[in-house]
Amino acid sequence: MLNVSNLHVHYGAIHALKGVSFNLEEGEIVALIGSNGAGKSTLLKTISGLLEATEGEVSYQDEIISGQPAQDIVSKGVIHIPEGRKIFPKMTVVENLEMGAFLLRDRRLVAERMEAMFERFPVLRDRKKQLGGTLSGGEQQMLTMARGLMTNPKLMLLDEPSMGLAPVLVEKVFDIIEEINEQGTSILLVEQNAQMALSIADRAYVLETGRITLSGDALDLMENPLVIEAYLGG
Ligand SMILES: Nc1ncnc2c1ncn2[C@@H]1O[C@H](COP(=O)(O)OP(=O)(O)OP(=O)(O)O)[C@@H](O)[C@H]1O
Ligand SMILES: [Mg+2]
Repeated sequence: MLNVSNLHVHYGAIHALKGVSFNLEEGEIVALIGSNGAGKSTLLKTISGLLEATEGEVSYQDEIISGQPAQDIVSKGVIHIPEGRKIFPKMTVVENLEMGAFLLRDRRLVAERMEAMFERFPVLRDRKKQLGGTLSGGEQQMLTMARGLMTNPKLMLLDEPSMGLAPVLVEKVFDIIEEINEQGTSILLVEQNAQMALSIADRAYVLETGRITLSGDALDLMENPLVIEAYLGG
């Protein structure tokens, strides 16, 4: 479904991705783990068209999408949920969800999807009219995910959904990710919480300073001494 081949990305003189190749098959949850600055967010931004690669290519459903404008990639069903809960702080919960549905012209469908989001994230229903910026961190994370789901994406690129959340909420967010996947959305999951990410992923890749250094079945990686030492706290 997604094929990344020999991707290089530069920020000026900084060589952030140094020939990254990997793939994701339809229906999978693939985790991408790595330390701060490894290039995880850079990789997601390049897939979704926010950054341009200096070399290599990204193909999605057998079409080369690298070089295409971000909105064209979104309209193919690839949704990027950025790190740090980028909601619209001055808009209400409902308005934020409407923004997520900007591709949908059918008002009834928007209302239906919104209702489905309120079923999945009841806390958002209780706060429909509240401004995004006044939600708690966990609630903002729920809103970010709900907004991304308004268009029923085929592939979701999730950047550190657990960041800054209390353990109970982390569990909840990961349960929701699994549920989203079971309902047919493929997921590329970037996480520093390697334990949680590997526990729900089918396969995983380890990214270190711009290069993939390990890959395999998530369960095998969980038992790999290098992974245990570096990412699972010894
Ligand atoms: N806009 C930018 N300008 C210059 N360098 C950048 C820019 N964005 C990222 N970088 C650098 O590129 C490298 C990869 O950054 P990236 O944000 O992809 O890392 P990451 O793996 O997502 O890290 P984290 O886990 O901390 O979010 C880092 O060394 C970072 O400093
Ligand atoms: Mg990042």
